[in-house]
Amino acid sequence: MAKFLVQKSGPLSGEVQISGAKNAVLPLMAASLLAEEPCEIKDVPDLRDVKVMKEILESVGSEVKDIDDGHLNIYTKEITKAEGCFELVNKMRASFLIMGPLLARTGRGKVYLPGGCTIGARPIDLHLKGFEALGAKVINEDSYVECIAPEGGLVGNSIYLDFPSVGATENIMTAAVLASGTTSIFNAAEEPEIVDLANFLNKMGARIKGAGTDHIKIEGVEHLKSARHTVIPDRIETGTFMLAAAITRGNILIKNVVPDHVMPIAAKLRESGVDVFLEEEGMRVRADDKNRKFVATDIKTLPYPGFPTDIQSPFMSYLTTVDGGSTVIETVFENRFMHVAELNRMGANIKTDGNRAFIPGSKVLEGAQVIATDLRAGAALVLAGLVAEGTTEISEIYHIERGYEKFVEKFRRLGANIFKMEE
Ligand code: EPZ
Repeated sequence: MAKFLVQKSGPLSGEVQISGAKNAVLPLMAASLLAEEPCEIKDVPDLRDVKVMKEILESVGSEVKDIDDGHLNIYTKEITKAEGCFELVNKMRASFLIMGPLLARTGRGKVYLPGGCTIGARPIDLHLKGFEALGAKVINEDSYVECIAPEGGLVGNSIYLDFPSVGATENIMTAAVLASGTTSIFNAAEEPEIVDLANFLNKMGARIKGAGTDHIKIEGVEHLKSARHTVIPDRIETGTFMLAAAITRGNILIKNVVPDHVMPIAAKLRESGVDVFLEEEGMRVRADDKNRKFVATDIKTLPYPGFPTDIQSPFMSYLTTVDGGSTVIETVFENRFMHVAELNRMGANIKTDGNRAFIPGSKVLEGAQVIATDLRAGAALVLAGLVAEGTTEISEIYHIERGYEKFVEKFRRLGANIFKMEE
């Protein structure tokens, strides 16, 4: 299996361009199934997960064409098979996002279920609660879920989400846009990716209000037409590079950023002593003031607009290098400290107690052989490797390549000593 070799690097400097958001483009591609005419999506990142979603769309009857770099044309004249097959769905759990569109457009959908993953069981009970509220019959077997709409199609309803699940909010939105009547989602997820999806659906002729708040209202329509849309920048990739500047005490300019989307990350970095501010061309992140003390700060992950769970592990790598002890509390996923054992192999000496981690800080990390347990944990280990003495060898890097476009190239251009070693 391929590995990353990361060596101690000086302060990163230069510019980096952020790609389109993985967690926006996947629901956008799934939602394109709802249109009976061609849709165009721009700023599509070149990621393994995007390739899998393209295969899934083609397997149900879509024609997906690369117009040019990062520009897709998706035309689903008709859905020939309302089913997400196991081989493809098992490659990427976000495939389940095709269920809402399949159900809305054809009246049925069958999607095989991937198992849990390292960060948690990843249940879909809230998705199914939403489909049932819209009138669908849900057959929930161990290996697959099948949903069947009533004769006259789905019917709008009010749905309360016990947790503001991003995926459940997206799937219920796409199921409800063609339902008869109005649907209200209460305690909806408020992430920017939800707003991006609602904007795309409204361009297609949907009638969605309240995206970005905890109450989303969807008035069903008869048909959806073609639309063009540009994917929002990836706020998690942005946060990863903000932390790369911070941990190496560097000075970088990040281009193609929506500042509001990374406000929690900027706020916590500023508390720790890092300068984060806007320039004409983008967001500047500076930690290169030799007289500056970088201090501990506590993190608690929450649904948006709280601190993003996907930045928890990269931020923890940074916290191992600041003066003083920090506490990190993970409230979104039940098992998202898998990177702690790996950082401890590098000398971080982090202690955990349930969903709390205590990072002593003031550590000089040592390079080691470590394993990426999910894509964000993998990025966290790369950041740690940039400041650790010696060489850090990171395996299972396919996780990282799933979600970060041109990862090595972007880091090397900032001065990082990172190399991909093919097996
Ligand atoms: C999306 O996952 C993202 N993935 C995740 O990013 C992100 O960490 C997560 O949202 C939270 O922001 C994509 O968008 C493709 P959830 P999703 O449903 O939709 C529980 C990355 O690194 N829950 O908001 O699966 C669940 O167990 C990935 O890019 C239920 O209980 O997240 C979890 O504890 C990792 N029942 C919590 O909600 C349900 O039916 C958050 O899950 C659904 C979820």
